[in-house]
Amino acid sequence: MTEPLIRNISDTARWAAVFRAQETERPDALFRDPLARRLAGERGQQIATAMTMHTKNAWSWVMRTHVVDQYIERQLAGGVDTILNLAAGLDTRPYRMAVPSTLRWIEVDLPELLAYKEQMLKGEKPRCKVERIALDLADVARRRALFTQVGASSKRVMIVSEGLLIYLSPDDVGVLATDLAKQPTFRYWVLDVVSPGLMEMLRKEGGAELERAGAPFKFAPPEGPDIFRRYGWRPLEVQSTLKAAHRAGRLPWPLKLFGFFPEMNGAQGKRPWGGLCLMERSSE
Ligand SMILES: C[S@@+](CC[C@H](N)C(=O)[O-])C[C@H]1O[C@@H](n2cnc3c(N)ncnc32)[C@H](O)[C@@H]1O
Repeated sequence: MTEPLIRNISDTARWAAVFRAQETERPDALFRDPLARRLAGERGQQIATAMTMHTKNAWSWVMRTHVVDQYIERQLAGGVDTILNLAAGLDTRPYRMAVPSTLRWIEVDLPELLAYKEQMLKGEKPRCKVERIALDLADVARRRALFTQVGASSKRVMIVSEGLLIYLSPDDVGVLATDLAKQPTFRYWVLDVVSPGLMEMLRKEGGAELERAGAPFKFAPPEGPDIFRRYGWRPLEVQSTLKAAHRAGRLPWPLKLFGFFPEMNGAQGKRPWGGLCLMERSSE
């Protein structure tokens, strides 16, 4: 039997790296990730080639990286001393961004993915201190122990979780968000969220592949980013991916018109909407 295109959830990290590699190769790149092509490998490229609808919408993947870069830069300037990147995948920000050498950058992902990443990045030097923690985030006891340990050993932590929550059930997102909010030094959280309408669209291509790989899309809160208020997080800034792409001049022509619509970041219902959110832990 031939291997499936997407073997498991970690293959989605190789897929995501392809979009960063493609962006890097553009003369007008919004960011450059020189390691992305190596990390994505052949498998990443095969997935991107097969998923033509997603590849046509590369702009949305690129905007996610670009806006998250901006959120990180801003909060680093505001005194964040630790980045906790949950489901870091093949992200290489500690190698490509101008971060202070004193910054502590913690990457959490599944063991196999991190072993691959370590091997592929052998000999490369990050610009700050990088710690890699192989952990299944579904293991609630171990992740709580990690959060307590990181919370106690840092002063101002920013959590980054790109491309993770969509794979969790709404209940699991609620428990994770509550766990994160328990740490007083966990101040900010960058996350991406989609509307139920966009999740339906995304499922149309590759939905069955992802399901077979044990990675179906599950989380698309009807109330939008405000759902996180329940769990101790309030939105500081929300940018719709589409508007961000419009501002960066990256929307393909059939979508350009929508770029002129006002930013609407609340409940979206069936409307396809994706947002990049900077959350702040509520103090109470
Ligand atoms: C779509 S990729 C995103 C990777 C990276 N954040 C990015 O934007 O390129 C999803 C990542 O989530 C990781 N992941 C999924 N479930 C996980 C779990 N239970 N524990 C740890 N990592 C997990 C996968 O291994 C994969 O690297």
